[in-house]
Amino acid sequence: MSTEPIDATSSPAWAALRTHKESFTPNLRQWFANDPQRGTKYTLRAGDLHVDLSKNLFTEETLTLLSKLADHVQLQDRIDAMFSGEHINVTEDRAVLHTALRRPQNATPELVVDGQNVDVDVHAELEKVYDFARRVSDGQWRGVTGEKISTIVNIGIGGSDLGPVMAYEALKPYVRSGLEVRFVSNIDPTDVGETLCDLDPRTTLFIIASKTFTTLETLTNARLARRWLWDGLADRDVAMTDDDARRQAVARHFVAVSTALDKVADFGIDPDNAFGFWDWVGGRYSVDSAIGTSLAVAIGPERFAEFLAGFHAIDEHFRSTPWKENVPALMGLLNVWYTNFLDAHTHAVLPYAQYLHRFPAYLQQLTMESNGKSVRWNGSPVTGETGEVWWGEPGTNGQHAFYQLIHQGTRLVPVDFIAVANPEHDLVDGDHDVHELFLANFFAQSKALAFGKTADEVRAEGTAEDIVPARVFSGNRPSTSIMAADLSPSTLGQLIALYEHITFVQGIVWGIDSFDQWGVELGKQLALEVAPAVAGDQAALAEQDSSTRSLIEFYRENRR
Ligand code: F6P
Repeated sequence: MSTEPIDATSSPAWAALRTHKESFTPNLRQWFANDPQRGTKYTLRAGDLHVDLSKNLFTEETLTLLSKLADHVQLQDRIDAMFSGEHINVTEDRAVLHTALRRPQNATPELVVDGQNVDVDVHAELEKVYDFARRVSDGQWRGVTGEKISTIVNIGIGGSDLGPVMAYEALKPYVRSGLEVRFVSNIDPTDVGETLCDLDPRTTLFIIASKTFTTLETLTNARLARRWLWDGLADRDVAMTDDDARRQAVARHFVAVSTALDKVADFGIDPDNAFGFWDWVGGRYSVDSAIGTSLAVAIGPERFAEFLAGFHAIDEHFRSTPWKENVPALMGLLNVWYTNFLDAHTHAVLPYAQYLHRFPAYLQQLTMESNGKSVRWNGSPVTGETGEVWWGEPGTNGQHAFYQLIHQGTRLVPVDFIAVANPEHDLVDGDHDVHELFLANFFAQSKALAFGKTADEVRAEGTAEDIVPARVFSGNRPSTSIMAADLSPSTLGQLIALYEHITFVQGIVWGIDSFDQWGVELGKQLALEVAPAVAGDQAALAEQDSSTRSLIEFYRENRR
């Protein structure tokens, strides 16, 4: 396998895709008419996911050329390299092994990477998390006043927040009764203030989740939470006057998840109450590590194990399925086709499942922090566009907001629809099964995007001629429809793994390191540099550019 990125854009496959594109006139109406099997032919199965790719803009030739492109960039070798723990995160010189987090116990052959028996470590840490989850839920773990814990507050940001909160929201029906999890991420004091204002410190337990345990937002919020705990306990006549009492309160009300257990101890959290993971787990790929502790407590170890098994099913599909049936590979390659050949800039993900309402936000970090880059893993500039802008909202809310642009705008917006067959709340409205009304919208949207409505069809409805153009739908707007029987822990794990691997495929074609995130560093550094000026240091203020200076001056003049 080449250690250097292979330039896809100078490959014969890329040239062939360019030529293919020149004569490419997508016509989904025609394609479906010519091939009555198109719908079933291009509907694939990955684990329990039923994935209909047929309404995307491709012909069999497109898929053949994209498969050749995958071969040219040695995609299979790169997949194998990731699964076996090679240091494919080049700029940080790390293995990329989130797939090891969900390997079943006693999987063979054993995975030993850089001298570490990964399987043994992963399962030992999982057991620790599971034991904690059991102790919280059965009341063995109690607060400092002896009361049972009823609220967990996860404090983290980025991958230490988005995965846990998304999964908690998605799996709400599985949350054990008597337990609620809340999430604090933003350094805006509103977040911690609002989240804690109605909680009882005696029954609240904080999970401080931070891979590095240096993140400004998380550590600030953790200190605020610790202060809130001490003050709240004191208000309830719990003596908090000496260090020992305060330490004991932290020991019963704070646990941590981190790869930096020394820093956890510095914060005052007993390392026995800390759950570890490893530098080969990227933050945005960490919900299935101990970073998911809040979820494991909420849904219990058995359900969490099902969640992990879901990921693993897709891992196996991804590493062993030929390109033309490999769902993550095809979806990733189609995204390359849209981005680099059909000039799409964004990608919408539209879940028709209210429980997935945080899924688009989760995917934003996964995809954009991974692939929003303009140099390749050897430092050379990329040779084409990378990284679509991912966005979305649950249907049908989006229909009444931004779907206008997707249906009739000038931009091509590939869409992923996601829906489940069985609702959690089986409600009827008169004679109507409400879930069926909901799903009718899901089915209708991909149809409308694909097949549109011609001017003649609009006229046939009796529309006045001058209004006809406004009511025409061009069609040929691509979408993928993903369905599952239920939104279970397993299917959620499958969905997440699907998108992890889609992201990987695109990164490989673009030659970029999808596992570093240097682009977030400058802003963090400047925030520290600007802080003295914000606090009133005139010399620091004078050093700012005129725009930043005037913004800070406005702030200082208006701050009460
Ligand atoms: O700022 C980006 C980032 O490093 C993400 O990649 C990460 O998920 C997040 O910050 C939180 O980092 P940590 O878990 O180390 O607090």
